[in-house]
Amino acid sequence: MIETKTGIAGKDINIDAAGHVTGRSIYVDDIPVMEGTLFAKIFDSPHAHGIIKHIDYSKAETVEGVVSIFSATDIPGRNEIGGIIADEPLFANGKVQFQGQPVLLIVAETEDAAEEAFKEIKIEIDPLPIITDPREAFKQGQLLCRSRTFNKGDTKEAFQNCKYVFEGAAETGGQEHLYLETQGAYAYPMESDSLKIYSSTQGLRHVQETVAHVLNVGMNKIEVDTTRLGGGFGGKEDQAAVWACMAGLAAWVLKKPVKCIPHRMEDMRMTGKRNPYKSNYKIGLDAEYRIIAYETTFYQNGGASADLSPAILERTLFHGTNSYDIPHVNMIAHSCKTNLPPNTAFRGFGGPQGMFVIEAAIDHAAKELGVDANYIQRKNMMDNGTEFPYGQIVAGCEAKPCWEEVVKRYNIESIKKEIDDFNKQNDFVKKGFSMMPVCFGISFTNTMMNQARALVHIYWDGSVSVSTGAVEMGQGVNTKMLQVAANCLGISAARIKIETTNTTRVANTSPSAASSTTDLNGKALLNACEQILERLKKVARNICNEEETAAVIIKDEIVFINGVQKELSWNELIKQTFFRRINLSAKGHYATPVIHFDKTIEKGHPFAYHVYGTALTTVTVDCIRGIYEIDAVHVVHDFGTSMNRNIDLGQCEGGIVQGIGWMTMEEIVYNEDGRLLSNALSTYKIPDIYSVPAELNVHFLHSDGPEAALFKSKAVGEPPLMYGIGAFFAIRNAVLSFNPNAILPYVSPITPEKVLMALYSKKL
Ligand code: MTE
Ligand code: MOS
Repeated sequence: MIETKTGIAGKDINIDAAGHVTGRSIYVDDIPVMEGTLFAKIFDSPHAHGIIKHIDYSKAETVEGVVSIFSATDIPGRNEIGGIIADEPLFANGKVQFQGQPVLLIVAETEDAAEEAFKEIKIEIDPLPIITDPREAFKQGQLLCRSRTFNKGDTKEAFQNCKYVFEGAAETGGQEHLYLETQGAYAYPMESDSLKIYSSTQGLRHVQETVAHVLNVGMNKIEVDTTRLGGGFGGKEDQAAVWACMAGLAAWVLKKPVKCIPHRMEDMRMTGKRNPYKSNYKIGLDAEYRIIAYETTFYQNGGASADLSPAILERTLFHGTNSYDIPHVNMIAHSCKTNLPPNTAFRGFGGPQGMFVIEAAIDHAAKELGVDANYIQRKNMMDNGTEFPYGQIVAGCEAKPCWEEVVKRYNIESIKKEIDDFNKQNDFVKKGFSMMPVCFGISFTNTMMNQARALVHIYWDGSVSVSTGAVEMGQGVNTKMLQVAANCLGISAARIKIETTNTTRVANTSPSAASSTTDLNGKALLNACEQILERLKKVARNICNEEETAAVIIKDEIVFINGVQKELSWNELIKQTFFRRINLSAKGHYATPVIHFDKTIEKGHPFAYHVYGTALTTVTVDCIRGIYEIDAVHVVHDFGTSMNRNIDLGQCEGGIVQGIGWMTMEEIVYNEDGRLLSNALSTYKIPDIYSVPAELNVHFLHSDGPEAALFKSKAVGEPPLMYGIGAFFAIRNAVLSFNPNAILPYVSPITPEKVLMALYSKKL
């Protein structure tokens, strides 16, 4: 990549940082409200499953300031918001399927009035049986979509030839997204029977399309605009549509601006989380500890409707063998329907859930065989030429180089010895360690979604406007887009404005997700900039009387032809181009080449490339109180040729801590009635600054990086989260060194309470 003066104090600064720390960054709730704006509040079901017998909101309607109360019957179009499968009503219609399901929408002049009205609504529900457990749902035939099987080789036969075979179960819990900005939308009516909606969404197209069919209008009547999100983490990929539809419906019917933003507790109880999984595994090894066969069945807790669960289920299968080369594999996955809010995308999108199970299986085998898990992990590590169970052949593999670099750089043998010595010397404090390799595929697994567009205008004063389909949610994509335009056009970043994401400027966007936002939108932007650049080069040659073949470069806003600096500034070049009536705007498009996947045979080449890395985690457990600390996470991560080291490092650090949170302290609890007990920040603990490992080292493994990655800088949004899985096994190992007979199943999160119970438990 060409180095240019970016005008933002060095190219590795996130352009959003200043706005965030000074409070100037704009989120949905910061948009100045228009006169006459109304406030909408969802009345949600207090029961998890049942038939609605009676709703009485006559008293609520009389509360002063209440304008209207909407229900399913007020929808002009379809009462349907399901993204993949049409199985999710916007408003409960006759039946409720989870606590927190929208039943009515109260629209009032003030938030207080809406709040008041909420309390006056009476609902009677005839209860139906409540299922919260995916295995139970499966037993009762409650599935959200067709089950899937990935198969390679013949496990049945292979197990016969294995020297060792182990079977067991593993579970991972849910995870609350806890984006700092809750869900929300602000809609207002425009001319020609149309709506403009500011939405805190990762998926503008989904919001636009859903509002359009709820209102029974064309997508062209709905303009969706997103400046940035105060975090999404997957939670605003599809679920943002609820709030956009609510605000949109009310604005449409009442012809008034309407804001719909839930409070934190409403957001927590109404939205789905990371899908919890329960799984069975069977692993077979030969005498040399080569894994010969692996079978697993995944029971995904999908919640009451499909949402993104079918796609998440698929990614669980794609990552079910993590970084290992296993000749015989059979993995079955069921998406189970339960009476919980529809669970949804969360950083890693099913990948972490799949990886946890193989890591548990390997750890189980290691414990039985009396070796360190890392011996089996390393022995079975994939390499170029390995075939994934889904048929793609591993290429550009950095799995072993990352692992070896960790071993060398952080001196694994001395860490092991230190831990052994420490554990010998201390009776009531124990240390543990683990290795966690990660291999994560980059691309939407639905091939169709791997496309993007960008729109670039150069105004005739030389300033530049950039629109893409990318949503900034803290991952730094706007900064990377700025780098793309500045580098390609050879100008200062100060000249460039990254516009909001808007459906009228960039249509049919894929959600900002799958870690692919930067690659897809960056390449589309590059395409747009290159189109304009070609036109500018022609004009430059013409102005300077140079041959058509002369090489033109614009660098630091100066034109060079055949290596010679010309008296032609950027501003002059732009003016001259405009005077010649040449187009200074361009629309770019990009579709990832090569990738394909055939679901009928579950084989193909779904990923543009894979991201690799390894984490070494060490922990200390206080064996009297059950509490623990993560001492260190040492990572070697394959970034390709990082285009922004600070942003990429930030993504790694944030992902790791979020992953540790999922594995250790974040515990979603629903009771048997399907009521969320961990429904506030007082009952749901996420990592804070004190939970960050005392040492967190991320070493940049420099690989060439694939062409499919923007500037050969690999996608980084999700993969680091999975390093957090290492914390589970490290803590478990520490507990076992205190009590070798501890009962500590492969069930995450491994909270201090569970650790305490395990420390003093005993296998019979
Ligand atoms: N980082 C921050 N700060 N905030 C977020 O919401 N979302 C994660 C990841 N990193 C997220 C984040 C998720 S779930 C994804 S898929 C990617 O960013 C999306 O952005 P990318 O495609 O540009 O990596
Ligand atoms: Mo990320 S879970 O793909 O939004």
